[in-house]
Amino acid sequence: MISNKSTDVAVIGSGYMGGGMAQVFAMSGYRCLLADASIEIAENSLNRLIEESQNFEAQGLFAKGSTDLIVKNLHVAASIEEASSQATYIAEVVPEMVEIKKDVLTRISASADPHAIIASNTSAIPISKLAAWVDNPVRFLGVHWMNPAPFVPGVELIASPETSEGVLQFVESLITGVGKVTCRVSDVAGFIANRLQFALYREAVSMYEEGSATPEEVDTVVSNTFGFRLAFFGPFAIADMAGLDVYAGAYRSLSEAYGERFSAPQSLIEKTDAGEFGLKTGGGYIGLDVAQKDAIAAYRNRAYAALSQLKKELGPPPGFPTK
Ligand SMILES: NC(=O)c1ccc[n+]([C@@H]2O[C@H](COP(=O)([O-])OP(=O)(O)OC[C@H]3O[C@@H](n4cnc5c(N)ncnc54)[C@H](O)[C@@H]3O)[C@@H](O)[C@H]2O)c1
Repeated sequence: MISNKSTDVAVIGSGYMGGGMAQVFAMSGYRCLLADASIEIAENSLNRLIEESQNFEAQGLFAKGSTDLIVKNLHVAASIEEASSQATYIAEVVPEMVEIKKDVLTRISASADPHAIIASNTSAIPISKLAAWVDNPVRFLGVHWMNPAPFVPGVELIASPETSEGVLQFVESLITGVGKVTCRVSDVAGFIANRLQFALYREAVSMYEEGSATPEEVDTVVSNTFGFRLAFFGPFAIADMAGLDVYAGAYRSLSEAYGERFSAPQSLIEKTDAGEFGLKTGGGYIGLDVAQKDAIAAYRNRAYAALSQLKKELGPPPGFPTK
């Protein structure tokens, strides 16, 4: 097992996502090599990342000294091969096109140490498909950062059937070590984040297309109601806290209006039939401790009050309606 401290990182693809990742690794003290389709592109990216970091530091978004760390630790490599051959962790962050990923992963795999870990930032291509282009695929996995990489904490880790447990543990340690929150997710289309994000978007567009809501109305309601909760609690915690009996009742009305697509999920029926309503009774999906009910409500209230205050301080995004 490679020790984190000796890890040199290579980021292949120095665009939007790769650039943000490279900043994070360099700020965390890792020597990081940046490669792109040409050395000129990589050099331009390095200059952009340094300039951006100076702005972020001036705004207080990056800690003081971050730009110095980026200048010290982030370097341009002449080629994919030069970067890959020197790194123990290699992030592939090239465009979401199968032919480009195939070419780049094949080149990384051929030039890297056979035990160097190779991670793809693909948003949607199955990891098991990409694994076919990596020799020794036990060291290959998906490590899916979200946009903007320096500021969104969550990173999805996607193993192929061949990825080793040791590699997963190493990457968990590396990525949490640079301040991110990792979660292992299945190799299913959209993983977790995009599958849910796109399901919500689909329903929102349906409301727009059928004429029951404008885009502005949907966005106002989502960001000020349940979307507001999602920064702290996921859909299972929200349901367990609201009461699964309440959810079952809501699905009865929704399925009358929208049919099968909005029928109550089977496991929800089973839980409510068994008297498991979530936080009010015990049981539910995540098994919250009923004894913590008041403490959870107090946390929730503090969290929402702080978020309300932050939204007031920031005001609406430039050019957006005031709500
Ligand atoms: N942008 C997002 O919001 C987002 C979020 C999560 C994941 N992703 C995923 O991250 C990956 C990269 O997306 P992005 O938004 O950073 O794209 P981007 O276009 O900003 O950057 C891609 C970089 O790859 C370089 N590149 C192109 N061909 C290359 C080659 N043959 N060899 C080396 N470098 C090459 C480009 O010059 C560019 O610098 C994609 O798989 C995408 O699906 C993107």
